[in-house]
Amino acid sequence: MAQTTAQSLHTAIHTLREELAGAFAAVTTQADAESFRITYLSRNGKVAALFESMKSLPGPDKPVFGKLLNELKKSVEATFAEIASRIEAASASTASRVDLTLPGRTLPLGSIHPVTQTLNEIKSIFVAMGFDIADGPEIEDDYHNFEALNFHPHHPARDMQDTFFVSKDVLLRTHTSPVQIRTMKKQKPPIRTIMPGRVYRNEAISARSYCTFHQVEGLYVDKNVSFSELKGTLVAFAKQFYGSDINYKFRPSYFPFTEPSLEMDISCFLCKGKGCRICKQSGFLEVLGAGMVHPNVLRNVGIDPEEYSGYAFGMGIDRTALLRHGINDIRLLFENDVRFLRQF
Ligand code: DAH
Repeated sequence: MAQTTAQSLHTAIHTLREELAGAFAAVTTQADAESFRITYLSRNGKVAALFESMKSLPGPDKPVFGKLLNELKKSVEATFAEIASRIEAASASTASRVDLTLPGRTLPLGSIHPVTQTLNEIKSIFVAMGFDIADGPEIEDDYHNFEALNFHPHHPARDMQDTFFVSKDVLLRTHTSPVQIRTMKKQKPPIRTIMPGRVYRNEAISARSYCTFHQVEGLYVDKNVSFSELKGTLVAFAKQFYGSDINYKFRPSYFPFTEPSLEMDISCFLCKGKGCRICKQSGFLEVLGAGMVHPNVLRNVGIDPEEYSGYAFGMGIDRTALLRHGINDIRLLFENDVRFLRQF
């Protein structure tokens, strides 16, 4: 290393001071500031190097240069302090540079399927009336789906054309009524339960019918349950669900698992009973089947029909969901196209 002279050290100090001005201006980020500190102020930095070279100066020059270098060091430190505060101020002002007039970012929210919406409403009406909610398997056996429900062995509903069979005795349930059997086998009366779920039928697929749809089953078994209670419950439900201004009528009907049986029609909520394409100009829509639980069904689950009686009802909900939302093709409910579902 060349011998340090007063002259060379003087020049070095001068050069460093000039360099500093540029280096100071160039610092814009936190990382720049750190490399400034390392270059000039660290133990191996340029200022430390000048102190080191001072050691080889002739004796009398040392105090003079000691003073000069201390001044230099102080001014580099002051420069660095200024850099630090400048960077801090810059980052604070970036943080406050938020444009409050920009529209907020929308969070991607899902939507509730129209069938689920309809089902939730039905559930809340019956829960408020004191019903529990139960469910059962979609893959059923012949016993629960038909036999225990008093279907004659040759009843046409067992026909291959309506039922999807998995094997001779195992099938996809064609209605939610088998859950009645499961509920009554598990639980002693009083039983007051609705049983929603998906059912399957081997029907020709069209805009109006599909191979799967949803039903809600209802069951009330206790001492002295009467037919008028059944009608009262159905009317109370229909008025809450379809609107208090609806008209309704009960028609006698037949189901193997109820006796007597009825079907309920309500005035068409689309045309208000005037007659339209949907209600086929009748002014009424069929909404459910119901009846008093057949004594054979009670016996099949070990409930004494002399002591207890009960009513049951069953309704499809997909058609209602379609009509309420003005959807004209049932298949749309099952395709799960989010562009369609997002609208509800
Ligand atoms: N299970 C019948 C169907 O799928 C509907 C039904 C009718 C259910 C009368 C019942 C009932 O519980 O009592 O068409």
